[in-house]
Amino acid sequence: MEPLVLDVTDGDGVLAAAAEVERSYGRLDILVNNAAIRVEEYGRKPSEQPLEQWRRTFDTNLFAVVEVTRAFLPLLRRSPAGRIVNLSSLLGSVGTHGDPASYAYSDMFKSLPAYSASKSALNSWTVHLAYELRDTPVKVNAVHPGYTRTGLNDGEGDLSVQDGARTGVAMALLGDDGPTGTYTHRGETVPW
Ligand SMILES: NC(=O)c1ccc[n+]([C@@H]2O[C@H](COP(=O)([O-])OP(=O)(O)OC[C@H]3O[C@@H](n4cnc5c(N)ncnc54)[C@H](OP(=O)(O)O)[C@@H]3O)[C@@H](O)[C@H]2O)c1
Repeated sequence: MEPLVLDVTDGDGVLAAAAEVERSYGRLDILVNNAAIRVEEYGRKPSEQPLEQWRRTFDTNLFAVVEVTRAFLPLLRRSPAGRIVNLSSLLGSVGTHGDPASYAYSDMFKSLPAYSASKSALNSWTVHLAYELRDTPVKVNAVHPGYTRTGLNDGEGDLSVQDGARTGVAMALLGDDGPTGTYTHRGETVPW
């Protein structure tokens, strides 16, 4: 395994990375769009989060995913079993956010409107691309990893990093009969 350093918001760097993978391997089997940021402050009201944070959040969490995916798609199409996994979040579930019984119906989780909306948009991108690729071997799915102890949450969370990775890994290793265009956590469908 060879690491390749990449800033996903750097368009030239993305193209160079795809060219490097093509030179070294000729194709790509699995693309996991994992990189994301959460720059909003907990505790602020949704309407008080600065627009600049919305732009930064969407640059990384949505536009970079689209750009990276477009750059690597020709290589994924050369694979007999291309898989794209988009790391979404339960906070991207509009149904969950609107449900007063949900844990997302709280001041804490309503203070991340740009992060949440970027994941809702990522879910929409997932179903659009899955539709485009429905007659190919390439499968495109969104996952919620679970509330995981990482820097994104300031170290808070229910799951270890190993457990948080399980849903994404499972969807990256789907067989030919596996689904596409889904949004899941540990095999269970998450409401859009
Ligand atoms: N942790 C959770 O509870 C949770 C819940 C739901 C969804 N998620 C999602 O799971 C994924 C992984 O998050 P995490 O919890 O592991 O967060 P994390 O610890 O903050 O890791 C995010 C990673 O993204 C990278 N990154 C950010 N901007 C980048 C850029 N422009 N180019 C390249 N890499 C960039 C970071 O790299 P640097 O370290 O170099 O900045 C970091 O390695 C994210 O999509 C997140 O939204 C996490």
